[in-house]
Amino acid sequence: MTQEPTFQLPPAMSTFAARYDETYYFIYWLSVLLFVGIIGAAAYFVWKYRRRPGVDAEPTGHNAILEASWTIAPIIILAVMFHVGFRGYLDMAIAPGNALEVRVRAWQWGWDFEYPNGAHSNDLKVPVNKPVKLIMSSNDVIHSLFVPAFRIKKDVVPGMYTTVWFEATSTGETDLFCAEYCGKDHSAMMRKVFIVTDDEFQKFLEESSGPPSGMSTEDWGKKIYGEKCKSCHSLDGSKVIGPTFKHVWGEMVTMTNGEIVKVDENYVRESILDPLAKVVAGYPPVMPTFKGTLGDKEIDALIKFIQTVK
Ligand code: CUA
Repeated sequence: MTQEPTFQLPPAMSTFAARYDETYYFIYWLSVLLFVGIIGAAAYFVWKYRRRPGVDAEPTGHNAILEASWTIAPIIILAVMFHVGFRGYLDMAIAPGNALEVRVRAWQWGWDFEYPNGAHSNDLKVPVNKPVKLIMSSNDVIHSLFVPAFRIKKDVVPGMYTTVWFEATSTGETDLFCAEYCGKDHSAMMRKVFIVTDDEFQKFLEESSGPPSGMSTEDWGKKIYGEKCKSCHSLDGSKVIGPTFKHVWGEMVTMTNGEIVKVDENYVRESILDPLAKVVAGYPPVMPTFKGTLGDKEIDALIKFIQTVK
């Protein structure tokens, strides 16, 4: 649910916002309290001990309890602030293992967002209620990705990767800024974040993906194989973690449960989206699903490629 903006803070659209805002207001009101208390006491004493005719200044003396308490109280308050802040920092630093990973590239002056299936976009599009991890790099100078409504900000640095994550709590749109002055068109690095339902997100991935221009479907399938399948499926007949793709097309294969299945479009598609539905006899049931990572077009391309592995 979107929380409306308050006088000091923008709308709250991520799971971080509630705790972040609580911490902010805790420190803010504590500062107000201390400011009023200290300045008020100072003003009162200035008035109370003002110079008056017939009254001589006396030594102030020493109050051990008072001095100890104004030393210990701030230590406790600061320790509480540190604890709350550091716990929040750690939670924000470490993304959950099941986070959707989006590759972010920044340059003078623009952003590119690349999704697990290879789709790209200029504005960031993310599913609601799902952790999203941004893996960011810069092509030139330091930029900084800032989404106020998510309460996240992280520098994007040339020569290294930085990461940041969030989980959006409501559908809608919000602004994304570059928060590090990076040259003439720094202000042009303002983009939108669109938060959509999971179905809409999958549809977006489907629509915005496809083979790089000039590449045949078959070659694209080979490229996807290299990125997604190669570590477990060989092309030369050797047994890695899963069955080889060599000569596999059209074969009759025995499954763990004794069922005999023909390797065709439907079998390959099912094995990519729901790998444990049919596991080839002699292999462990360890393949992760590629649902969400590979769209229909990618799966078609992979099928085209697998047909050619002789
Ligand atoms: Cu990029 Cu400022």
